[in-house]
Amino acid sequence: MNSNGSFPTVLLLAALPFLLAFAHDTCSEHSCHVNEAHSELSGHDDNIRKYEQQAQNLPNGGDYNMEDTSAVKPEADGILGKFNDVHDKLEDSETGDSLQDNEEESVAEFPPLSRITPGEVGEIVDIELEDGKMYQRITRAVNPPVYEIPDYLTELECELIVKLAQYTGLMRSGVVGADIEEEFINETLDLTKITRLSDQTWLSREEMPPVLWENLTNRLSRLTELPSSILEVSEPIQVVSYSGGGHYHAHLDTAKTSDSGHLPCCLQAPECFDVDISTEEFEDCCRICRYVTVLYYLNDVVEGGETAFPLADASDEIVRERSKDTEFEPWMDLSHYCHNASLVVKPKRGTAVMWYNHLMDPETGYLGDTDLRSYHGGCDIIKGNKWIANNWITATPYRDRRKPFPAN
Ligand code: OGA
Ligand code: FE2
Repeated sequence: MNSNGSFPTVLLLAALPFLLAFAHDTCSEHSCHVNEAHSELSGHDDNIRKYEQQAQNLPNGGDYNMEDTSAVKPEADGILGKFNDVHDKLEDSETGDSLQDNEEESVAEFPPLSRITPGEVGEIVDIELEDGKMYQRITRAVNPPVYEIPDYLTELECELIVKLAQYTGLMRSGVVGADIEEEFINETLDLTKITRLSDQTWLSREEMPPVLWENLTNRLSRLTELPSSILEVSEPIQVVSYSGGGHYHAHLDTAKTSDSGHLPCCLQAPECFDVDISTEEFEDCCRICRYVTVLYYLNDVVEGGETAFPLADASDEIVRERSKDTEFEPWMDLSHYCHNASLVVKPKRGTAVMWYNHLMDPETGYLGDTDLRSYHGGCDIIKGNKWIANNWITATPYRDRRKPFPAN
């Protein structure tokens, strides 16, 4: 099974996104469900056609083979394809200047990370994210830098992402270290006690029309000022759907430095690929390294569903006080304390919210410690429902800058 080393890697890669902290699918046969959304998908192909017509002058505009999506693909296929792509890309660039031989192994030399410097809260900067198309980048917090970009996605893009997600099929979201079934059994009478109440799926490059993927990646690269070499080794897009009472209590999107800062980032840790992902050994093997989160609101919520940052721009004293405990604290409870947060962003279709989950390592310009002020979450949906997508941008500390996968 393991003679060419690919089978465990396949397993790991297929499951990797489910492992990532705070987005961990721990659902079992009983507590998981897949949305029966397929009957609602009559607009799916029409939307793709419409989008392609609008984007006719872009490369690959007409290449999407709709037959590819005529059956529901196992999620893993797409995710695996995505990671294989990354692998190929890194191999292709091995002859280029971006790689250098370092010590005994070939090391991918990513450029030092860009970081957008915030002005003061409320500052609006005009940015050109597509040729000839201007967007507004509004500073909402300085520590961590949090930006809001209205109309970042078009109405059609939002609709298309939702349809593609429904087509793939959504499952109950999970949280690392929490047994969902147990949470449901124990807490069914009080939904606010559940850490994360939503359904989710992953959309990889293969599951989108190429023109959509290209547009999103190009726009993201201009927004973050990060090169595609970094964006392409990041995770697939996670689409999340909340209905009434749905929420996600305050959490970090990335691993806490104090817990696992000594571990390598999972995507750059070939030594963990053969470790069984459901074991503690795996958790002890690598950590997730999400430098930036870009969150897209895909619809308008009638009431509630804000994204709250309880520690944004908080004083050192408050951060020290609140990060002492690893237990769940009232300030993390966004069902009850959403509006106590220092920053509360109202969802609006097409708006993107972008923030940094890590500080920068000033010496190397690579990934530094986790920024505890980046705690955030989604408040209760009071009326209506809410669709979002998470675009998590993975980066690595200087010591981890190497190929994500061993060559087979
Ligand atoms: C997440 C998250 C916030 C929101 O999915 O990781 O933080 O507003 N979501 O839904
Ligand atoms: Fe989050």
